[in-house]
Amino acid sequence: MDSADIARSLIDSAGGDAERVRETIERIGAEEAAAFLVAELTGRVETGTLPEGVTEVQLVLDGARPVPYVLSIGRRGAGGRPGELADPEVVLSQDVTEVTRSLFGPPGCQDSATRRVRWRDHDDPKVYFAPPPAFPAVERLLAALDGRGAPGLAELALRHGSDKWGIHEYTPHYEHHFARYRDRPVTVVEIGVGGYDDPEAGGGSLRMWKRYFRRGLVHGVDITDKSSHTEPRVTTSVADQSDLASLAALADRIGPIDIVIDDGSHVSAHVVTAFSTLFPRLRPGGLYVVEDLQTSYWPSFSGSYAEDADTSMGFLKRLVDGLNHAEYPAKAGRPPRPTDHEVGGLHFYHNLAFVEKRANSGHGGISRLREAG
Ligand SMILES: C[S@@+](CC[C@H](N)C(=O)[O-])C[C@H]1O[C@@H](n2cnc3c(N)ncnc32)[C@H](O)[C@@H]1O
Repeated sequence: MDSADIARSLIDSAGGDAERVRETIERIGAEEAAAFLVAELTGRVETGTLPEGVTEVQLVLDGARPVPYVLSIGRRGAGGRPGELADPEVVLSQDVTEVTRSLFGPPGCQDSATRRVRWRDHDDPKVYFAPPPAFPAVERLLAALDGRGAPGLAELALRHGSDKWGIHEYTPHYEHHFARYRDRPVTVVEIGVGGYDDPEAGGGSLRMWKRYFRRGLVHGVDITDKSSHTEPRVTTSVADQSDLASLAALADRIGPIDIVIDDGSHVSAHVVTAFSTLFPRLRPGGLYVVEDLQTSYWPSFSGSYAEDADTSMGFLKRLVDGLNHAEYPAKAGRPPRPTDHEVGGLHFYHNLAFVEKRANSGHGGISRLREAG
């Protein structure tokens, strides 16, 4: 099983009961599943305000075969390696199915009924007044396990180096529209990984989406090979958004998509090609987001200031008419568009648009009035 298969299997099974999770872990293999869970858990630990020093925690994922891990938690981050400590300061053990459901299950699945935290004896009363660094480190670890204290998108954008907050003020709009997807097992595709022709640069927004969508799979698409940013729950592909065939092949590999974010070339014709290829691949209820629409006006991006221009903004504005396609009289001769019945809502912000995929079947009702005049 590759990493994306492991992610999808664990996330899917976490929506079911403990038995289903147990069977899934058996199929994946206890060690492989543990490695995946520990990477996820340590990636979620909020370490930024911890005191100096590194705390080592003995973690035991209990199951048919208990898997021991040594976690290292310090201000600069957290990580884990398989193994045991000779004289651990603290041992945390929890049933592996409960850990899986806590990390990847829908809201309400988080539990700690099988959790044990055993501290080494603290026979020095000083611990009451001067807690050792292990105390806050373990608290952050448990918060990560229980889904407490997840940061917001602006914080994640700054932390991971995406311009979605700062240069642009997109994150509040993303928070507003993405909130209902946050706890769902979504498939997210972003065109534009960042860093342009440097294969090592960019990836900030992919890591931001991964942290935000705790049950999500994130696919980054770029014209440059960005495979250095592949990690559990994040994959990257090379495709040119101006090339319909390469995008369609990519979409076939990914399968149904819940959210597309176009932050790629920002050339109007490319934006329209990507939309025309990927919007049909969205699941009903999905969202298609286009960023940096300022370029649709700029001649340097083949843009235009004309109101009815053949640009990305012109294309999106025509989708607004499509919302009301049923109100056009036959004599207006408006050609039907495939999006007329599938775009159910549009939201425009400064340089940013959200297109909702949902059935658009309403009409004004009185055809006599529509056709008159
Ligand atoms: C603005 S950056 C993306 C920033 C990133 N999404 C973030 O928020 O951190 C734009 C990226 O789009 C990529 N790109 C440019 N033209 C493209 C095309 N035709 N198809 C796919 N990607 C393209 C560039 O290589 C660059 O890495």
